[in-house]
Amino acid sequence: MTTTHDATALFDGAFWNDPYPAYEAQRAGAPVRQVQQPDGPVWMMFDHADVRAALTDPRLSKDWRYTLPADAREGQPATPIPMMILMDPPGHTRLRKLVSRAFTVRRMEELRPRVAEFANRLIDDLPTSGPVDLMSSYAFLLPVFVICELLGVPAEDRDDFAAWSNVMVDESTQDESTAAAGKLHGYLSTLIDAKRENPDDALISSLIAVADDGDVLSQEELVAMAMLLLIAGHETTVNLIGNGVLALLTHPEQRALLVEQPDLIASAVEEFLRWDSPVHSAPVRFAAEDVEYGGVTIPAGSIVTLSLASANRDDKRLPDAADLRIDRDASGHTAFGHGLHHCLGAQLARIEAQEAIGLLLTRRPDLALAVDPAELVYRHSTLIRGLRTLPVEPGATA
Ligand code: HEM
Repeated sequence: MTTTHDATALFDGAFWNDPYPAYEAQRAGAPVRQVQQPDGPVWMMFDHADVRAALTDPRLSKDWRYTLPADAREGQPATPIPMMILMDPPGHTRLRKLVSRAFTVRRMEELRPRVAEFANRLIDDLPTSGPVDLMSSYAFLLPVFVICELLGVPAEDRDDFAAWSNVMVDESTQDESTAAAGKLHGYLSTLIDAKRENPDDALISSLIAVADDGDVLSQEELVAMAMLLLIAGHETTVNLIGNGVLALLTHPEQRALLVEQPDLIASAVEEFLRWDSPVHSAPVRFAAEDVEYGGVTIPAGSIVTLSLASANRDDKRLPDAADLRIDRDASGHTAFGHGLHHCLGAQLARIEAQEAIGLLLTRRPDLALAVDPAELVYRHSTLIRGLRTLPVEPGATA
């Protein structure tokens, strides 16, 4: 008989729609173990304490070359593209420092009114009758509007931008994904050249201008940074909005609490991040040497991923972690990672979700789930936890 501890069982069947029973079983029985992911075997950790420690463990490197025998590493590029999320210090430190200068909390807060304006415009366009898919008509569009605004991508190019990003992270074939990445790369290269000629006050121009003791970003680093911001900033926030709205639709008492106390929105978004984390497993790390977690030795050269979503439901850290409570203190969750690679866009993502969910709740109190929650279909991604569609019925409680 197959058990949830079987190396092939974790990503099968019911897992995609509700991974939480499987995560709970892992925490109870095998919190550090090797699993068979669709792309091959990886080591996973499921406990909050292990996940948080591993996120700051320098022995768990971003350098894929540790998967090769030592004598085969020479001459291999550390990354196919200079993205800081794929790099260790000192390369990571340098890029992060340069981009952080242009990516300030003040700049993010300045975007809040624009975020609200975009959300309001999308809500104006939502139908007032018939089932509506909130993913395609709302959750998917807002983050792409915001990231284009932030980077300085012209409005007329948004649709292409969104489509390429979606193909790259969705269940596409390798060829489709490579083709989309190529188109995005070419588009951004041309856009960066145009911004060099005619700078504006958006992020790409700031990144071109940013300098630190004579150090600047090369053209290839600028393209990689813009691609990273698009992919990391879009697909994640879409699902924070989708998962958050669904959480309220399936927990009427929490929804009523938020209607009664709208000031709870920041706390509610933190709880949505914790309770149904949009990035359910952190991007992979590679063991630079043998490492021991939970009494288990992960051999040097292994691919390691950390279940952020399981860590956030760990009762050993937070009592009744399976319960959604928008007024609880959810801080300390791992939804944005931790340590060196802690999400650069965390503040922006929070602002987007606060505005998107807060405004939707106020302006469309009539929306109700149009299907039984058991019929909802999630994407089959080991990285992203998100709905394919979120059908809602207008007028249900008006
Ligand atoms: C890194 C989650 C939104 C940009 C990360 C990491 C996580 C994460 C877990 C750490 C990856 C690792 O340790 O390997 C999320 C979630 C988001 C979100 C859940 C939304 C709900 C954004 C936004 C942006 C962004 C809006 C930018 C516009 C980045 C970047 C990194 C990163 C650049 C890499 C940081 C580094 O390597 O130093 N994010 N993210 N993210 N995120 Fe986010």
